[in-house]
Amino acid sequence: MMSFKSIRMPSQTLSSAQSLRRLTQQSRRYASSTAPRKADALVDGKQALPKRTVLSPEQRKFLDNALRVNQAGELAATLIYTAQIPPLVKAHPNLAPIMKHMYDQEAGHFKTFNHLLAKHRIRPTAMYPIWQAAATVLGWTTGMMGREAAMACTEAVETEIGNHYNGQVRELFSWMQGLKDKGEEIDPELHELIDTIKRIRDEELEHLDHAVEHDAKEAQPYEPLTNVIRYGCRGAIWVTERL
Ligand SMILES: [Fe+2]
Ligand SMILES: [Fe+2]
Repeated sequence: MMSFKSIRMPSQTLSSAQSLRRLTQQSRRYASSTAPRKADALVDGKQALPKRTVLSPEQRKFLDNALRVNQAGELAATLIYTAQIPPLVKAHPNLAPIMKHMYDQEAGHFKTFNHLLAKHRIRPTAMYPIWQAAATVLGWTTGMMGREAAMACTEAVETEIGNHYNGQVRELFSWMQGLKDKGEEIDPELHELIDTIKRIRDEELEHLDHAVEHDAKEAQPYEPLTNVIRYGCRGAIWVTERL
């Protein structure tokens, strides 16, 4: 069993005291997740000793950092659209449905990573208020620059975010392959996490396609604008992994 499974939030049906007790027990279990655990199942009347898989400290750190960056990125995406949509849709009412569709998907992604951070007790980035301000400024500026610049912003952001999610999918697949090679059980939660990140990555790449279809490449000045945004995204990812 992967260690991140052992920090599930308490059931809502438990009393506060029970919830607190369980949380404490779970925290202790999480803290010692790299230690071998006793089997807790009986098979054919004998105590079974299944191989249990836990995340290494490096894997746990990778997962913490990755999910923290994902939450920050999705926060930024919702705020970029929140600032971009009013001037953009005022000038181009025909863009309202596509912008709403992309915003709704970003809001769904943000909700997913908020849930995962709470579930695995991962702290949000210390840069949260800075990214809120930066994303709002980026959204408003590109929205005011016009349709092509707004689309170029989406194209640039999604190019970086698509690469970022691909890196995570590759890493998680390599963990899964490592477990298979050792003949160990694959935690269903790991499968679920990979599927979630793949689905979100595909939706980001769909946004990238929408942006190109809506003349992102006609933005003026295309190269400097998209380069600034792409390097900005990479810098933000780098900082968020550490803070
Ligand atoms: Fe997203
Ligand atoms: Fe997106």
